[in-house]
Amino acid sequence: MGDAAIGEILVQPDDLQHRVRELGAEITRDYAGKQPLLVCVLKGAVFFLSDLMRAIELPCEVDFMAVASYGSATQSSGVVRILKDLDAVIAGRDVIIVEDIVDSGLTLQYLLRNLKAREPASLSVCALLTKPERLKVDLSPRYVGFEIPNRFAVGYGLDHAERYRNLPYVAALREA
Ligand code: IMP
Ligand code: MG
Repeated sequence: MGDAAIGEILVQPDDLQHRVRELGAEITRDYAGKQPLLVCVLKGAVFFLSDLMRAIELPCEVDFMAVASYGSATQSSGVVRILKDLDAVIAGRDVIIVEDIVDSGLTLQYLLRNLKAREPASLSVCALLTKPERLKVDLSPRYVGFEIPNRFAVGYGLDHAERYRNLPYVAALREA
């Protein structure tokens, strides 16, 4: 793209596509006989979700949630506000939260608590990326695409100030 802000490539397009298909196959096996409801966290996870869902060979549904985390642009505080709630009632459903990236884990911890209170039959997490060095809370997603180093990542849905979501790979943003 010739953009000076784009640094080292962290995950190549082929590796993304291959791993997403593997995750879809794992979910297909683990949820055999069930009809999972994928809860996609807007906006970053939309890109991952659309590839993942096409790799799941089960009857499944999708719903969307938008949250904003109070804090600075690159640090979340753990105080989360729901901007858009689910349309679906999830009581009794097998719910899989689809996230783009788990950084501190604070956003996900809030979502897990919030959705658990609605009494789904089961609740798991599928995160494309995690940054193990940054994790501040005790949680481990059942499905993880890639563990990445402690860098600010963009591409394949991940943004910096709403840009770079359309990159077909995941790259580190070059520090200014
Ligand atoms: P957490 O609450 O610290 O885990 O942050 C989670 C949210 O912050 C993610 O869902 C992303 O929207 C955003 N985020 C965290 N790290 C990155 C990154 O490296 N690139 C882009 N967005 C990020
Ligand atoms: Mg996000």
